[in-house]
Amino acid sequence: MSSDLRIDPDRMLAAFDQLAATGSAGDGGVHRPTFSEAHLAARARFRQQIQEAGLLFRVDGAGNHSASLPCGTEGAPTLLIGSHLDSVPNGGRFDGTLGVMAALEVLRTVKDHGLKLKFHLEAIDFTDEEGTLVGLLGSAALAGCLDPALLQSPRGGHEQLHQGMQRAGLTESGMLSAARPRDSLAGYLELHIEQGKRLERLGIDIGIVSAIVGIWSYRVYFIGRADHAGSTSMDDRRDASLGASAFTLAARALVMQDFPNCVVNVGRMDFTPGAFNIVPARVDLALEFRSPDAAQFDRLNAALLQLAQDQARRFGLELKLESLGKHFPCQMDDRLRQAMAAACDALDLTHVSLPSGAGHDGQSLSGFCPVGMLFVPSVDGASHSAREFTAWSDCVNGANALLQTVLRLAS
Ligand code: HGY
Ligand code: MN
Ligand code: MN
Repeated sequence: MSSDLRIDPDRMLAAFDQLAATGSAGDGGVHRPTFSEAHLAARARFRQQIQEAGLLFRVDGAGNHSASLPCGTEGAPTLLIGSHLDSVPNGGRFDGTLGVMAALEVLRTVKDHGLKLKFHLEAIDFTDEEGTLVGLLGSAALAGCLDPALLQSPRGGHEQLHQGMQRAGLTESGMLSAARPRDSLAGYLELHIEQGKRLERLGIDIGIVSAIVGIWSYRVYFIGRADHAGSTSMDDRRDASLGASAFTLAARALVMQDFPNCVVNVGRMDFTPGAFNIVPARVDLALEFRSPDAAQFDRLNAALLQLAQDQARRFGLELKLESLGKHFPCQMDDRLRQAMAAACDALDLTHVSLPSGAGHDGQSLSGFCPVGMLFVPSVDGASHSAREFTAWSDCVNGANALLQTVLRLAS
């Protein structure tokens, strides 16, 4: 069946460029945090593209936006393909957007050629994949595994989440009732940039993802005492910045030494009161750590929290911890991986199996339906920055591999 079918690269580029211009940061990147005006504008643009393509538009209680192409068979399952249009602050224009544009282009190509598939196709933009508010929010809601507690203490702040939901016209009850019926999905496929250097170093066209890393997040509070920065002697201070800084350096050393297949990141430190001439009373850290191995998380978690305790005690500080979400690692589906490999072979694209160090919506769906991911090379591995870049020819390769995988699964 139509193994010589290809997407329309110019049409996909035009759609991609429209999104890249929406929330553009002017430096090649985009700034589209979830439910920001720019993110809502990007979703409106996607909706317009869907309607111009003559596809059905739908949005669910979690704000997931999608294009639907029914197959004509009542009660058939849906093959979901997509990614996310939200970005990290000052992120890149490929992360997520490529996957949504490629998914839309696959539906348009199938529709143009009047192909009759055995399942419905749906191209989706998931809400808040990046976690500037919650993380994997829309996909967890769709899969019925959204923990209501995360809407009370989201890592991006309760007020920010609820103000954003209001701007987007969403409610908590809508979020929590967006679950699809269990057998409604034939599977979920996502095309994404690798966000690492392996494909580029190997000179290989496509990465077929084997597994996705797990991610746990905390806010860590080191609490000392505000004092006059000039008249308080150095040995008489309870300086919260010392605990925060010592912990950050020690956490890096711990992971590099004892957990070499894991990573840890302190992405933000907020000082209170935060003035030149006041000894910091409190420092709040945004802590995230990742492991490909579920069994390892408890050990890594315990080691890092013990480290935080030790550094707080060392500088006479109080410690508070707020758990902000635990996404577990997951394996990709073998049958989908085989279909992807067959599609790449048919397209004469070289491919390699590799794990993902980045989190993705497939993690939410892995217990709900078969999940598969395709990567295309990132230049210099850059991502989550304006430096993010993937050659358009690689984007087209990825979209054709996605199309041919869909057609293999559909036959
Ligand atoms: O953070 C991640 O790994 C992904 O980009 N959300
Ligand atoms: Mn992404
Ligand atoms: Mn990302």
